[in-house]
Amino acid sequence: MLELIPITECIGTEVRGLDVAGYISDQDFERIYQAWIDRTILLIRGQEMTPAEQVKFTRRFGEVVTYTRSQFNADEFPEILVLSNLTRDGKPIGSAYSGRVWHSDGAYLSDPPAGSMLYAREVPPVGGDTWYGNMYAAYDALPDHVKDRIADLKVVISRVQSRPYNYPDRPPPTERERLEWVDVAHPIVKVHDVSGRKALYVGGNVPWRIEGMPEDESRPLITFLQEFATMPRFTYRHRWRAGDIVLWDNRSAMHMATPYDHVNHRRLMHRTTLAAVL
Ligand code: OGA
Ligand code: MN
Repeated sequence: MLELIPITECIGTEVRGLDVAGYISDQDFERIYQAWIDRTILLIRGQEMTPAEQVKFTRRFGEVVTYTRSQFNADEFPEILVLSNLTRDGKPIGSAYSGRVWHSDGAYLSDPPAGSMLYAREVPPVGGDTWYGNMYAAYDALPDHVKDRIADLKVVISRVQSRPYNYPDRPPPTERERLEWVDVAHPIVKVHDVSGRKALYVGGNVPWRIEGMPEDESRPLITFLQEFATMPRFTYRHRWRAGDIVLWDNRSAMHMATPYDHVNHRRLMHRTTLAAVL
């Protein structure tokens, strides 16, 4: 029997009694989908699924993104992005270092993905947890005068500027990337395209600009919002076990990876990504 259990008071639902690779009725799926929208993340433990089954399950939630340019797609499954410190024939099989600051995925794109699913295949005995924060709850908890102040503001997100924060291990952007990667502006108060609820959208721990605001005013405001948004009461830190699935709503959640001993321990995660709803 399907059971939906809150993870913390503020964020997340654990789904029990579900085999994601088996048959899921439309009625059960509707309850799962609604819990995802309402509570920003879903956790499903103890699952065994092949890459094909992961893609199929992800598709129930929406259109799946295929990374045409990534070197870290799973063999024969371009929809699956591999996050891992493992190597094969001396070459990395996945992205070994990503998401170590609070962020929402693809914030530097004009249409960021709607959500992502991580499936843990191998996990370190300690470390490598993932934090999630509920940005509906963070917005709701802001004092009214701050809500008024930010109501019509936009944050300008630069992919070039975020590179050293997101990927300190990678080389700086090339001249060509600098030209290709144009800045994008997003409303700081984002209206969710399914729920219609307002969520705080402040990117990661990067000192973003606010459109049309002088730097000395913009910096402290954005820093305050970022720190407020990630206060512990809005968050849940997921300690992975192999077989866990977490699906986050990228429109209403931020997340952050935590470090682990990548020399002595193995971590292998398969990620699928949901396209923006346009
Ligand atoms: C991601 C991400 C965090 C992690 O897949 O977008 O940020 O803990 N992952 O691997
Ligand atoms: Mn991420």
